[in-house]
Amino acid sequence: MNFHVLVPDNVHQKAIDLLEANDGIRVSAPGKLERADLLDAVADANALIIRSGVTADAELLAEGPQLKAIARAGVGVDNIDLDAATERGIVVMNTPGGNTISTAEHTFGLMIALSRHIPHGHQSLAEGRWDRKLFSGVELKGKALGIIGLGRIGQAIATRAQAFEMTVIAHDPYLPPEVAEAIQVSLLPLAEVYARSDFLTFHAMVTEETRGMVNAHSIARMKDGVRIINAARGALINSADLAQALRTGKVAGAALDVYETEPPPADHPLINLPKVIHTPHLAASTSDAQVTVAVEAAQLIVDYLLTGVAENVCNPAENSS
Ligand code: MLT
Repeated sequence: MNFHVLVPDNVHQKAIDLLEANDGIRVSAPGKLERADLLDAVADANALIIRSGVTADAELLAEGPQLKAIARAGVGVDNIDLDAATERGIVVMNTPGGNTISTAEHTFGLMIALSRHIPHGHQSLAEGRWDRKLFSGVELKGKALGIIGLGRIGQAIATRAQAFEMTVIAHDPYLPPEVAEAIQVSLLPLAEVYARSDFLTFHAMVTEETRGMVNAHSIARMKDGVRIINAARGALINSADLAQALRTGKVAGAALDVYETEPPPADHPLINLPKVIHTPHLAASTSDAQVTVAVEAAQLIVDYLLTGVAENVCNPAENSS
C-alpha cells in the first residue's frame, strides 16, 4: 500500500524528510495552497499535516474521501472540524508539547514589553522623539500574576514568573491540585484570581464556557489597572468590551498575539489602541518549536498509516480502521 501524505502548509523540511524516509509513503509538500488548489490536492490524500493557517472544515474533508488521518503541527485543533472528521472516521492528532517553551517565552516577552512600554518607546524614538517621561512603566517583582489555565504553557510561565519574584496564582478547574502545589502555585476560584491579579494571562482552549470570558462582567471583577495578556486564542476575549475598559482606564494595558479571526480586520477594536501591544500570532513561531512540532506531526502520521497506532488523538474517531 502506498499512502499519500499532503502537507499543504509551510512545515519544516525535517518533517518531509522523515516522511520520505519511509517506504510506503509518498509526500506532496507544495507549501501553502490557495483554497481552490487545496480542495483539488486533497482528492487522493490519505493524510494531512497542517498548521493553524489551513482550515480543515467539513467541505475540505468531503473532498478527501481517502483521508484517514490529520496531524496538527501545533496544539490548537480549532481549525479542524472534529465532528466532521469523526463522522468520516478520520483520526485527528496534535503535538501538544512541542511549542510549550516558545509560547511561554513569547507570553513572557509580551508581559515585559507591556509593563515597560517597549514597543511604544521603540516607535517614538524611531519617529525622532525622546519621550522618557511618557513611557515610565511598572516592575514585575512583587506583582501578582494570574494564570487562567495551568496546563503545560501556564506552568512554564509560572516558573519563569517566579524567577522574576512575582506572586503566581492560577485558576484551572481540570488540574489536579498536587500539580500546582509541586510548582508552588495556588489554585484559586476564578473570581479570586481576577480580584487579586496585577497581570492576567489566559491559556485556555475555546469552549462554550471560555468563549468571551474576558468581557464587561468579568473585567468589572478584576483589579483596577490590571494588564491582560492573551497568546492563546482570540475568542477568549470580547474585544469591544476590552477596548472600552482600556478607554476608561479600568484595564491599564493589553498584549495580544491572537485574534478571533486571523488576520484581524482593519477595524478590529483593539488594533492600534494606545494601551495595546500586538503581534501576529507569533508565540509558537521559533525555529526550535517549528522543527519539533513538524517532526512530531510527521512521526504521528507515519505511525498511524504504517502501524495503525494513533497517539495524541483529539477526536473520538470510532469509525477509523
Ligand atoms: C498552536 O495552537 O499550536 C499555536 O497557537 C501555534 C499555531 O497555531 O500554529
